[in-house]
Amino acid sequence: MNTPRLTVIGTGYLGATHAICMAVLGFEVLGVDVDQAKIDRLASGEVPFFEPGLPELLAKALESGRLRFTTSFQEAAEFGDVHFICVGTPQKQGSHAADMTYVDASVSALAAHLTRKALVVGKSTVPVGTAARLTALVKELAPAGDEVELAWNPEFLREGFAVEDTMKPDRLVFGVASAWAEERLRAAFEPVLAQGVPVKVTDLATAELVKVAANSFLATKISYINAMAEVCEATGADVHDLAEALAFDTRIGGRFLRPGLGFGGGCLPKDIRAFMARAEELGVGQAVGFLREIDGINQRRRARTVDLVTELAGGDVAGKRIAALGAAFKPNSDDIRDAPALDVASTLHRLGARVTVFDPAAMENAKRVHPELSYGESALDAARDADVVVLLTEWTEFREIDPAAMAAVVAGPSIVDGRHALDPAEWRAAGWEYRALGRP
Ligand code: UGA
Repeated sequence: MNTPRLTVIGTGYLGATHAICMAVLGFEVLGVDVDQAKIDRLASGEVPFFEPGLPELLAKALESGRLRFTTSFQEAAEFGDVHFICVGTPQKQGSHAADMTYVDASVSALAAHLTRKALVVGKSTVPVGTAARLTALVKELAPAGDEVELAWNPEFLREGFAVEDTMKPDRLVFGVASAWAEERLRAAFEPVLAQGVPVKVTDLATAELVKVAANSFLATKISYINAMAEVCEATGADVHDLAEALAFDTRIGGRFLRPGLGFGGGCLPKDIRAFMARAEELGVGQAVGFLREIDGINQRRRARTVDLVTELAGGDVAGKRIAALGAAFKPNSDDIRDAPALDVASTLHRLGARVTVFDPAAMENAKRVHPELSYGESALDAARDADVVVLLTEWTEFREIDPAAMAAVVAGPSIVDGRHALDPAEWRAAGWEYRALGRP
């Protein structure tokens, strides 16, 4: 069969990455978004977010002539054989459920123009059952009716590794309702599959579930080790060593077992909440009730980090200068959505501390959302005259800070290592009071 022409609907983080990578891999790709400004930036070669390696690939894709952008769903419908839906599913205001407005709107807008056989592929993270609902919607709205099929291809990319995860993912999951849909998906991922990437073909509901099940598992692993950190704190044991010892068991493994401030970002926190909300609707809320505990353990990390800073500040942070190193929800990202770092920094500010933040990539985003905080020019600048330094995002440049150089600029050499990123012996040798949750 012929090589399909692809459209990617929604050019946010996921969509832009997918569109760019697919064009680089040789497909004709049309990126679609309702936001003209976003389209204009991408078309002029600018990636509107921080992602290592992506700007270079965008330049390459544009140069090849295989990547174009539009705001027209009609143009998309006429152009594409396989349409990837990559719009966001944020947490609903005032609820834990996922907001399906963008998915429903984009699928409807596309379907209205589908006059020939085509495959619509959902990539967004959605409540299980969405694909079945959208199948009915598409068949009803599309002039081509039953000729249009729906499939689900969940996305597992990590921010900071988006290119690598798209070009050579651990696995592909194809949720399909027919052999034709599977063949079209195999054709749409041919260069990826050619590298030996395993593919798991499932039904639609299973494919939707794989995504939330994976993110729930990852969140559980992180909260598990952070729960152990709480126990370590009460016993004087060292969670860092505990995690390393557990990791030797290949059944457990060391990845996503790093204790610290816990998880944030635009995915893990909202996905576990949406999963609980959906499970409740399905009458199986009890089956994933443990995720409430996972969320609770995760939230407590932020509160405990504030407590530890307060302890080092002598019992009260009011009027104290605190240097907050990090704002992004994780290193190699400028994303501050549900960032534990900024949660801690703004709580300290609310408690009366004078907080100065520095982050290598997320400064603009942080200033926009938290104008009440102060911002430094560098880690050392933020630490000037600080009573307590708190490391909140484990950027490599923070790991490489010379403790003696930082000791020379602070008011008092006290540090809370919220990410277990520093060597306690090295910092203590340089005269610092070093503290980390779950470590003696
Ligand atoms: C996560 C998943 O890892 C991806 O597979 C998934 O595709 C994505 O969500 C999504 O649903 O779109 P991401 O949010 O980019 O990716 O970030 P992660 O690398 O998973 O980190 C999430 C959070 O967990 C960060 O705040 C990180 O600091 C924290 N974390 C991670 C820990 O606290 N400990 C660890 O051991 C690992």
